Amino acid sequence: MFQGAYPESPLVWVDAGNFAAVGIASAKVRNEGIIQGLNIIGYAAVMLGERELAGGYETFQAMQKQATFPFVSANIHFEDDGSTLVKPWVLHKVKHGEREIRIGIMGLNRYNTAFLKATRDGRNIVIASPFKVARTLVKEMRDEVDLVVALTSLSISQARQLAREAPGLDLIIGASGGVLSRAQDVAAGVPIVFSGNQGKYLAEVRVHLPADGEGKPGIRRRNHYLNRDYPQDPELQMLTQEVLGKENDINRDLATEHVEREPIPLSRATYAGSETCGTCHLETMLSWKLTSHATAFDTLVAKNQDFSEECVGCHTVGFGRRDGFVNAKATPELIHVQCESCHGPGTLHVKDSSGRYGAAGARSCLGCHDPENSPDFDFYISWPRIRH
Ligand code: HEC
Ligand code: HEC
Ligand code: HEC
Ligand code: HEC
Repeated sequence: MFQGAYPESPLVWVDAGNFAAVGIASAKVRNEGIIQGLNIIGYAAVMLGERELAGGYETFQAMQKQATFPFVSANIHFEDDGSTLVKPWVLHKVKHGEREIRIGIMGLNRYNTAFLKATRDGRNIVIASPFKVARTLVKEMRDEVDLVVALTSLSISQARQLAREAPGLDLIIGASGGVLSRAQDVAAGVPIVFSGNQGKYLAEVRVHLPADGEGKPGIRRRNHYLNRDYPQDPELQMLTQEVLGKENDINRDLATEHVEREPIPLSRATYAGSETCGTCHLETMLSWKLTSHATAFDTLVAKNQDFSEECVGCHTVGFGRRDGFVNAKATPELIHVQCESCHGPGTLHVKDSSGRYGAAGARSCLGCHDPENSPDFDFYISWPRIRH
């Protein structure tokens, strides 16, 4: 979209790192997929973050082999000789008309004294304080490049400190949790751009370099929330589907029919299932069967996402509760959005229907119909569609 609007301007893609999945069975497949995606987009540089090392140095090296872009970090280093794991910074050249523009991109991790990773051959990897390293580095880069960019996992307030302590920086691009920067996040004249996490936002930073090479560049930035107004890239969409499908196959293979669970005391209600409710509320059950709630799990099966923990929560009953949905092999009776997804566990009500049970209303919907998954949701329009 940007290239369409500004065909003359060179585009440079960078990422502040910590993209790697950690602690999921399909991490390897996911991380390979992310790197393939970054390759396709054509990233100029990606910061090496702590998460990329979570699986060990050797695992990171394997990732690095697949990447067609360089990783940068100036302060993740081997403890014994102080050498960095990857380049502290890279020079990225682009052409604008006749002019060649040299962009220096460095990586600076947040200071973490607790971070320690051992390589298989017994070397320790640690993280040094970023500020001193940055000061030396900016001096070194300043004469060689037209634009000095720092990628970082510092917090915004630490990024402000960085701007003050390492004079000569032109731009700080960071990621720390889901933080989004605002227009007033500028320190010592250096714009600070944070664009959240999980790839939900894309920061657009427009840089206007002075024609004579003198003076500060003009920088404007904006965070784009990547909702459905932004078209999907067919190649990346295909890759995503392929990777998610492979992850689903891994999760399906790992899912077991039997899961150990703490017994639920008889005095506490648990899930009875819609069929049981239907023995007394027949008409309600028949009308529920006509809604897409009653087939919500089939939607995931069709997408090959039925074993994805990121998806099943809202397409089943009670996921995450100790008596709720676990996986489609262990608890097949709890697939789909059933009566008890909205009314709550009903076994006690089944035994004795005289008391009050299952108050439901607009608030019952919003846990699933959230802005990300159901952006147009409005209770007063939606409820009549499923009223019973
Ligand atoms: C044994 C028969 C029976 C079964 C099984 C049964 N119900 Fe009921 N339910 C009743 C009766 C009787 C009432 C009270 C009269 C009415 O409102 O229809 C009632 C009332 C309700 C109410 C209104 C309660 C209130 O406080 O106003 C809800 C909601 C409800 N049932 C949901 C369910 C759900 C969900 C299930 C399955 C988990 C279920 N019922 C299973 C017989 C049953
Ligand atoms: C447990 C999660 C969950 C809860 C709670 C929930 N929904 Fe849904 N709802 C879904 C899912 C998932 C779908 C999509 C089903 C599909 O097509 O696979 C959906 C679809 C719908 C649709 C159909 C949209 C269409 O046009 O096809 C309506 C209407 C709806 N929900 C209304 C509600 C209302 C009203 C509430 C609250 C009273 C509610 N839902 C509560 C998960 C939920
Ligand atoms: C936070 C709850 C939630 C999660 C998590 C969730 N969904 Fe849904 N999903 C919904 C709701 C609610 C709808 C109905 C949206 C609407 O019509 O407004 C829906 C609808 C859908 C639909 C469209 C159904 C149709 O044909 O209209 C698909 C496909 C789908 N979800 C797949 C997924 C996948 C794949 C994942 C995991 C990546 C996922 N969902 C995770 C709540 C969720
Ligand atoms: C998507 C959420 C949702 C699902 C699924 C759902 N209900 Fe409801 N149900 C509600 C809401 C919301 C109300 C309205 C409460 C009100 O009007 O105060 C309601 C009302 C009721 C009532 C009370 C009606 C009355 O006259 O007060 C009963 C009984 C009931 N549901 C039973 C069921 C049964 C049985 C099922 C499954 C076959 C079911 N519901 C599925 C959300 C749901």
